Formats: sequence, C-alpha cells, structure tokens
Amino acid sequence: MDQTLYFILLLIALCSVSECVQRQYHFINDGKTWTEAQRYCRENYTDLATVDNMNDMNELNKYAARVWIGLQRASCDKWQWSSGEHALYRNWATGQPDCNDECAFMRSGQWHEGQCSDNWSFICYNANTGLIFVNQAMNWGDAQSYCRQNHTDLVSVRNQNESQQVEKILKDNNSSGSHVWIGLFRVRDSWQWSDQSDSSFRYWETGEPNNAKGDENCVAVNQNAQGKWIDVLCNRLYSFVCHEDKLIVIRESRTWSEALRYCRQNHVDLVSVHSEEMQRRVMNVVKRAEVWLGLRHSCSDKKDNKLTAEL
Ligand SMILES: *[C@@H]1O[C@H](CO)[C@@H](O)[C@H](O)[C@H]1NC(C)=O
Ligand SMILES: *[C@@H]1O[C@H](CO)[C@@H](O)[C@H](O)[C@H]1NC(C)=O
Ligand SMILES: *[C@@H]1O[C@H](CO)[C@@H](O)[C@H](O)[C@H]1NC(C)=O
Ligand SMILES: *[C@@H]1O[C@H](CO)[C@@H](O)[C@H](O)[C@H]1NC(C)=O
Ligand SMILES: *[C@@H]1O[C@H](CO)[C@@H](O)[C@H](O)[C@H]1NC(C)=O
Ligand SMILES: *[C@@H]1O[C@H](CO)[C@@H](O)[C@H](O)[C@H]1NC(C)=O
Repeated sequence: MDQTLYFILLLIALCSVSECVQRQYHFINDGKTWTEAQRYCRENYTDLATVDNMNDMNELNKYAARVWIGLQRASCDKWQWSSGEHALYRNWATGQPDCNDECAFMRSGQWHEGQCSDNWSFICYNANTGLIFVNQAMNWGDAQSYCRQNHTDLVSVRNQNESQQVEKILKDNNSSGSHVWIGLFRVRDSWQWSDQSDSSFRYWETGEPNNAKGDENCVAVNQNAQGKWIDVLCNRLYSFVCHEDKLIVIRESRTWSEALRYCRQNHVDLVSVHSEEMQRRVMNVVKRAEVWLGLRHSCSDKKDNKLTAEL
C-alpha cells in the first residue's frame, strides 16, 4: 500500500450506543521483559494492554500466573508544591531525582529526594512575614503541619530568586549546607499507560504498589491474587497481553452519509474521533498503515466532523 504520501480522511459518525466494542486482547505466552513485551506489542498489535474498566479486567484474568500490562511508573517528573502549584522550576542536584522517595530537601541550594519520614529542619513561608527557618528536626508531613498551623505553608521555590532567598535565610542562620525540607513532593500514583491512554482504572492488590525492591516500575496482573495488580521489576520475564484497537480507516474522500452507508454495509459503523485520546488511537492505527475491519467508537457530540490526517 502506498501509504507514505497519503491523505487519509477519517470520517466521524453519529453515535447511538456508548460502549459497543471492547479492545481486543492478545495473550502472548512468551517470557519477556516489560520493554521487550512493549516492543513486541507495538510491532505486532497496537500496544501493551491498557485496561479501562472491570470488563477489560475480566478479559485479562484468564491468562498465565503473571502477565505484563502496559502500566509503568511515570518518570519521576510529577512534582508539586505543598501550596498546590505544579513544580515547573527545577533545581535538582546531579543524579536527582532518582525515583526512590517522595519528598524533597534542599542542601547547598540544590534539591534531593529524601525519605519523607526522615527528620530535618525546614523552612516555612508566611504570607505576612516571609520565610521562616525552623531549626527543629521533623519529618516532612509534620513540618508541613507545623508550617500550615503556625504560618502559611512549607516554602515553595518557584524560581531562582526564591531559591536565593532560601539560601540567604539559611546563611543568616548559619545553616548553609544542612538538609532542610522544602514544600516539594512527588505526586503519588503517578503511573502511565504505554499507549498514553488516560485511563485512571487501577486494580491494585492490597498493599500495592509497594516498590518493595526500590525499582518496581512496571505492573503485572497477579493471578494468585484474583488478577489484582502488583508493581515488579521491569526486567522480570513474564508473558504479556497486547491490545489491538480496531478502527475503520477509509482511504478515500467520501461524504459523511456515503461513508456511513459504506461502513454500515461493509463493517459496522464509523469511528468517532471526539477526543484527543481517540485521535491518538486512530493515529496509532493509521501509522501501521493497514485497513482495519471492526469498530471502535465513543459518543459525545453529534456533529458531522471530518478529520484529515497526513501520514
Ligand atoms: C512480532 O511477531 C513476530 C511473530 O510472532 C515475532 O517474530 C517478532 O519478533 C515480533 N516483533 C517483535 C518486535 O518482537
Ligand atoms: C524522627 O523523629 C521521631 C521523633 O523524634 C522518631 O520517632 C523517628 O524515629 C525519627 N525518624 C527517623 C527516620 O529517624
Ligand atoms: C506551632 O508552633 C508551636 C510553637 O512553636 C508548636 O508548639 C506547635 O506544635 C506548632 N504547630 C504544629 C502543628 O506543629
Ligand atoms: C526577588 O524577590 C524579591 C522579594 O520578593 C524582590 O524584591 C526582588 O525584586 C526579586 N528579584 C528579582 C530579580 O526578581
Ligand atoms: C551565626 O554564627 C555567628 C558566628 O558564630 C553568630 O554570631 C550568629 O549569632 C549566628 N546566627 C544565628 C542566627 O545563630
Ligand atoms: C534565622 O535568622 C534570622 C535572621 O535572618 C533570625 O531572625 C531568626 O531568628 C533565625 N532563626 C533561627 C531559628 O535561628
């Protein structure tokens, strides 16, 4: 198929039912690491399995003792200030963050991940009086409570200027170079799907994810726990489940009603592309440049949309 310089018209139909067709899963009974499994699925299907709901889970529940699904710990990039702001400015020391801990302290102006239960002195921010150095060792959570009760919050360091102010107050208190908590913490449950889906469905076994070995960044379904999920080391060799998104791509320009007729006759219905999520999925399929039979649609608006995609 001459796909490289093609314009593809994806036609978008009305929806009548909300969830008609599930993803199709393919169980691969061959032990691979998570990354190898991902490569296999991306080459041969759409991606490592994404799970949207309990129906999907019941499908996945029938396979081997442990199987990889497409969930992986997000890069340690989601950090937030105690005040609620996302951390955009970053001032990590070399090699940090290393993804082991969920709180951050400052030392000599630079940030390090620290175990939230460690006791360090800390810096509060007071909306009226500015920064306050509290020279009492507390764990991160207690330091946060202290600041919130007695001042405003643990300090945010949102730019170089604020960083300099923090360093200055430490210097004034003869504490340059010591460990001090700042209001930075890693957003929990930051996991991402291999196919970039935004599915928030989770089915963790009790006590999981526990990152027991420190580097458990990939997720497997555990048959010994009724198919619930555990975090495990990504280099373990497990069988895995790929998913295949079934979409109709029509490589000709047609009017919507022609296309609808065509699809109803030849397939079942047209694909709807209402969300970025769907658009991404469509592009995943289009990239693989095959015409798929089947159906996947989602319902929201009733507009007669057209999406033109360039390969
Ligand atoms: C895709 O599937 C074929 C046949 O099972 C296999 O030989 C190939 O290695 C797979 N691709 C990848 C990237 O693993
Ligand atoms: C922090 O301090 C508390 C109370 O002083 C103590 O019980 C706890 O063990 C300390 N934590 C660590 C990690 O040292
Ligand atoms: C507020 O400060 C007082 C006096 O320093 C202290 O006793 C109290 O524990 C602080 N509040 C919290 C929640 O830590
Ligand atoms: C840094 O912050 C201080 C206090 O808010 C302010 O007076 C000063 O102008 C700021 N400096 C720069 C370079 O933004
Ligand atoms: C810092 O150290 C100097 C010199 O030892 C001392 O004079 C000053 O009082 C100390 N400042 C604080 C806040 O402890
Ligand atoms: C820290 O230094 C400031 C002066 O910059 C002083 O007002 C404050 O009392 C000191 N805090 C502590 C805990 O020593």
